[in-house]
Amino acid sequence: MKTNSLGFKSMKDYDVEGKHVLIRVDINSPIDPQTKRIVNENRINKTVPTLEWLMRSGAKVAIIAHQGDTLDYQNLIPMKEHAQKLTEKLGLKVRYVDDVCGPMAQSAIEALDDGEAILLGNLRYLCEEISTFEAAVKLTPQEMLNTWLVRSLAPLFDLYINDAFAAAHRNAPSMVAFQELLPSAAGPLFFDEVTTLSMILNGPKTPSIFVLGGAKISDAFGMMEQVLENGTADKILTSGVTGEVFLIASGLSLGKKVEAFLDDKGLTEYITDAKKLLDAYGEKILMPTDLAFSRDGVREEMKTCDAPIDELFLDIGTETIATYVKEIEQAGTIFVNGPAGVYEDALFESGTRYIWQAMAKAPGFTVIGGGDSVSATSRFTDPKDMNYICTAGGAMVRFLSGKQLPLIAAMEKAGAREK
Ligand code: 3PG
Repeated sequence: MKTNSLGFKSMKDYDVEGKHVLIRVDINSPIDPQTKRIVNENRINKTVPTLEWLMRSGAKVAIIAHQGDTLDYQNLIPMKEHAQKLTEKLGLKVRYVDDVCGPMAQSAIEALDDGEAILLGNLRYLCEEISTFEAAVKLTPQEMLNTWLVRSLAPLFDLYINDAFAAAHRNAPSMVAFQELLPSAAGPLFFDEVTTLSMILNGPKTPSIFVLGGAKISDAFGMMEQVLENGTADKILTSGVTGEVFLIASGLSLGKKVEAFLDDKGLTEYITDAKKLLDAYGEKILMPTDLAFSRDGVREEMKTCDAPIDELFLDIGTETIATYVKEIEQAGTIFVNGPAGVYEDALFESGTRYIWQAMAKAPGFTVIGGGDSVSATSRFTDPKDMNYICTAGGAMVRFLSGKQLPLIAAMEKAGAREK
């Protein structure tokens, strides 16, 4: 059987009829903090063609996926609504089984008929699948064969498919271990994303800027040094929690509330990393010059030179917005991952709104990635005005840093073995 230019097989290279197929997708979606309901369906929509092909080809399909993480606990919810949405969009039933790999999941897998699909429980119910475990324990794919997930599920399947490029930077058992045991293939979304991002990586128009915000700051810190060192990024514009960490690293105090927040989220360690980056690339890293907070329900702004005041900052201020918009207007390529503030709250949407609207009008090539960033795109702009919208956020920026991602390494290894 052939492999393609990426060195691993496509699911369409296999005859899946009557086969038990385990498919890992990324339908991790932005969730309304109050209602706990899905607020953007982009990743679910993008997964539909893959599942439709498998079901119509007669595979017995078990879908595994994650929602949220301990880093963002409010998003860590069961996946019943994801199964309902898949069912509506496919016009084919996807039954939800609220168990990841225990007895209930196993009997549901064994009972699957040709063309049927189930979605198993949130992978991040398992400690071995959460990203804090991944960072603290650092198992190799071989060592992951002892995890509960892989021990329980691998013997029940004929084929493993991964169509979760958006989680390609996660060295978790569901992403990189099944390839050690099962014939493996990538789904079409995975191929599309890698092909398009490779084109962008190989010739970004300069100046190329990375606009990094959001709350998942490990994603930003996972790649900043590489993109600055290898010249993929001419400048990095920081906002969100990433911006706050840089401000503190530059010697500013942002007050006790911000310090307690960073401490509580285990993010204080990034201050040291930020200091090193500032020492090496200071003039290429832009930090907010003003920040917004709420006083008695009214938006107020503070110039960072007037810090500290004891508030939680939930957006960048007007002056920073103006600076960043100007940079965006002059850039050849603009990559964005992570909103500038808590844009779901009308008080703190300005940073994200104006940056996104500047991107939509920018003459440069615009690339947006990540669940919240894509939601913000639909909220503040016409998504058609962006040049490329990727399902991945953290995985996209790390791919663009030129570093090999754990998923790609695992797929290439399986591809080489099966050649
Ligand atoms: C993402 O949202 O970037 C992917 O779904 C991966 O999620 P994670 O950052 O929680 O691992």
